Amino acid sequence: MMATRGPLQLTLALFKPDITRVPHVVQAIRNRIIQEDFFVVRHKEVRLSRQDTEQFYEEHRGKFFYNRLVTFMSSGPSQALILAHEDAIKHWRALMGPTKVYKTKYEAPDTIRGMYGLTDTRNSTHGSDAEETAAREMKFFFPEFCQEDWYRVEEDRFRKGQVRLDEVKFMHNLF
Ligand code: CDP
Ligand code: MG
Repeated sequence: MMATRGPLQLTLALFKPDITRVPHVVQAIRNRIIQEDFFVVRHKEVRLSRQDTEQFYEEHRGKFFYNRLVTFMSSGPSQALILAHEDAIKHWRALMGPTKVYKTKYEAPDTIRGMYGLTDTRNSTHGSDAEETAAREMKFFFPEFCQEDWYRVEEDRFRKGQVRLDEVKFMHNLF
């Protein structure tokens, strides 16, 4: 029985290609997400083209790691998720751990990147860093998802716990 919860915030999470190809790691991260009381509002597997990735990571164009980042992100399937939590953006980023895996392995070993990250590029997951980026990134992966409608119709019922986890689709559904 879940306690009554405050207003929910939404964020966009991504399982990058390095972990998506390892089913037991995907399962372990899914378990962490549920343990941390996130709701999974949307979830789907995606295959990003080079062009998609360039658009998604536009802010990093020109940086020294841009090419290897784009190559990696378009190298295989990813999983995109819309997560809900009282403090979804910060909470998910805290669970992920800092960007740079080599450092994170020492400084935050029990985070997702600390546990499963391979390199500074192949660092397991992505998470939006602010409300505006979350809105843009949710639109990028789920163009049919309307935040306003979700808040108007569904947020209250998620908050009251009127949801059930579909373990196969890894998504919460209202009941
Ligand atoms: O993902 P996050 O917001 O923590 O980091 P970022 O600074 O926005 O960088 C985006 C992504 O670029 C990272 O998650 C890494 O995959 C990659 N990156 C890299 O390959 N080498 C770096 N020195 C920094 C970031
Ligand atoms: Mg970032």
